[in-house]
Formats: sequence, structure tokens, C-alpha cells
Amino acid sequence: MSKPGEAIAWFQPQMTGGELPRLADVLERNFLNDGPLAREFEARIAQRAGVDQGIAVTSGTAAITLALLALGIEPGDEVIVPDLTFIATANAVRLAGATVVLADVEPARLTLSPAAVEAAITSRTRAVVPVDVNGRGADYGQLERICRERGLVMVCDAAEALGSRYAGKPLGSYGDAACFSFSPNKTLTTGQGGIIVTKSAQMADRLYELKDQGRRVRGSGGDDLHPVMGFNFKFTDLQAAVGLAQLDAFDARLAGAARRDAWYREALADVDGIVFPDMDSQAGEVRQWTDVLIDRRSEVRAALEAERIGCRSFWFPLHSQAPYQQHAARFPNASHISDRGLWLPSNFGLSESDVARVASVIKTALSASRACTAC
Ligand SMILES: Cc1ncc(COP(=O)(O)O)c(C=O)c1O
Repeated sequence: MSKPGEAIAWFQPQMTGGELPRLADVLERNFLNDGPLAREFEARIAQRAGVDQGIAVTSGTAAITLALLALGIEPGDEVIVPDLTFIATANAVRLAGATVVLADVEPARLTLSPAAVEAAITSRTRAVVPVDVNGRGADYGQLERICRERGLVMVCDAAEALGSRYAGKPLGSYGDAACFSFSPNKTLTTGQGGIIVTKSAQMADRLYELKDQGRRVRGSGGDDLHPVMGFNFKFTDLQAAVGLAQLDAFDARLAGAARRDAWYREALADVDGIVFPDMDSQAGEVRQWTDVLIDRRSEVRAALEAERIGCRSFWFPLHSQAPYQQHAARFPNASHISDRGLWLPSNFGLSESDVARVASVIKTALSASRACTAC
């Protein structure tokens, strides 16, 4: 997120102006809980994902956990997760009580490697959680085949992929269920929040029970029946009011992201040492933020920061994080990408001249470090 004093912010949430009147209505009605606006928001997100059911919850992390629980994942089960993702993917598996098994990613698209998944399957494997990294669809052709053949369920972590499409279908429509996040660095934010989208009405019923203390029907909160176990992961109409207003600007934001990416590609074309990871823009894939792989990332990052231009290095691979520590040798692609990945400024107000300025700082940094290597 942006830091105070940045000349060009890496990213900032942006309000549309429609939030305040919608919020005022919620306050006027004096029903701040998970109610009719949350239902409307769920329906509109599900429609965008190309499925019938949406169940909004407190966060993307909670969404993944509840989806796994609804599919019957329990302690002792193994769940395969890519080594290169935000740590929430793995933490959500742990919260469901299951064991995280890491698998390497594809070098060009950064998404879960089907071959690594096949190699990681054991007799205890029950689920796979592919991640649509920054709007790139995982290899669903292969992953769906593997899950079908091996009897595994699939929960897609589409936290960063709302509005993006893969192989002709919206991301969110693959797997048994998919999960989006509405945290502040997403194209649509509700402060915090998440949603599970699925084609299955039966799974949606189970998810409503899980997110609301096992109740099938919300009554007085006193003499209600709670036939099964559940928790409290409810969304609120306050969040839905913000989300619905943000949805009104969503298509313009997707178009802006595609435009921003094209500007960067043009401005950084033919620069040695910079790779744009694969992205199928023709098929409707949209990057949430512009990402690049740079061999001399530390020099570039220092030069951008010296000019007060915000950027963000990629996540460390999960195998290097304390809760998931493992030997690096099994994850060469995740390590290679993590060492080089940089998210360039991608705020909603970014202009073509901002992109030209960012590109010029990057080029200067790379040519200076090249000259230095030569001397
Ligand atoms: C890939 C990925 N997975 C999961 C999450 C978790 O979402 P949340 O922060 O809403 O819990 C995020 C985002 O923050 C994410 O980027």
C-alpha cells in the first residue's frame, strides 16, 4: 500500500463517491448486520464469477477455510498449496485443521505446477488450492483432470482475480468453489471481507451454517436452533454498501488495469533484464497490479524508492517462512521468481506520464548497475 510522502503510490484504495449515500441508508435503516445488502452484493459477485451462489464472509482467508470445511476437509487431511502465494492460502488450510503440503509453481505464469501437484499427492491428500496469482488463472485444464482422477476436491484461491478470465471462463467459476478477497489492495475493497462462490446450492447452505453459528435460519439470537457446528464469519451490510458502490466502478477499473499494463509493456519493451511474466490479455486475463521479474531487483527498488516511487517485492516463498519451513531444493521456480518479482506502481490514478517516469528510473538504474558490473 502507499506510504506517506510517496510521489507515485504503489497502490491506494479508491472510493467512487457512491459509498457515502449507501452507507447513510444502512445507518438510517439501523440494520448494520449481515442483511439484504450483503445478499445483493453476494448475488452480484457470483454473477461476475459466472456461478449462482455467493457467500460473503469476513476475509479471503476465512473464505478459503470455510470452503475447505464445507467440503469435509478435516485434521489429518493433506491439502496441496503453491509455494509462491500470500501466506494466507496456507494459513487458511491450517485454520481448517489440515496439513499444508507445498508444491512448486510454473516459471512463466507463476501458478501452481500440475506436475509438482502430482508428485506431492499421498494417500492422505484430499484437496488442492491453486492460486490465480495476480489475475493469472492456474492451469485448470490439468489441475481439474488431476483432481477428477485422484478424487480430490479443489478450492481456488482467486483472491486477486475478480473480473479476470481464463480459457474463456471467469476466474471463480473453476473448481468446487473459489474465494475472492476484498482487502484494501484489491480492485474492489470493502476494508476487509471475502466471498466464496460456487455452483453448488448444497455447499452454499452448508457455508451459511458455517459462517453463522450452525444456524439454518437466523431467528432472535435467543431460542434459535443450531443443528450443526458453526462459527461467526458474517459479512455486514456496512461492508456491502461500500462493495456495491465499488462494483459500479469495477468495469472501468478493469479497463484501466489493462491500459496501465499496456503502457508499462511499451515503456519497458526491449529493456534487458526485465521479464513480464506470461499473461493472456486477449483471453481477458487482467493483472491486479503490473508485475515484472528483474534480475537486479535490489538496485531498481532502491532507485524507485529514492524517487519516492512506491513498489512492492514479491512474497518470500512459503517454504522459507517459519511456520512452513522446508528445504529450498524442491522449489526452484518459486525461489527464482520470489528473488526477482516486483509489483510496479498500479494505483487507480496512474497516468501514462507516471508510467514513463517509473520506466525512466528503472532504465537508468539498470544501465548504471550494468556499467558498474562492467568496470
Ligand atoms: C493470494 C491471496 N490469497 C489469500 C488472500 C487472503 O485474503 P484476505 O486478506 O482477505 O484474508 C490474499 C489477500 O490478501 C491473497 O492475495
